[in-house]
Amino acid sequence: MPNAPSDEPRRITVRRRGPMLVEGPVEIELEDGSTVSSDRFRVALCTCRRSRRYPWCDTSHRARSRE
Ligand code: FES
Repeated sequence: MPNAPSDEPRRITVRRRGPMLVEGPVEIELEDGSTVSSDRFRVALCTCRRSRRYPWCDTSHRARSRE
């Protein structure tokens, strides 16, 4: 079972502007009590709340306009 006390600590990388990177697999409980999961090696969690795929980052945090 993942996250047993003997497992290695799970690394989470926090960035000032951008997603939070979490080593997978992960299971995330959302505000409404539902859960989503991913078996990926690393997942990017949206911290800006602009993602259309929330809680996953879809790169919407990046500037959309270009000059
Ligand atoms: S952090 Fe990337 S879309 Fe929100």
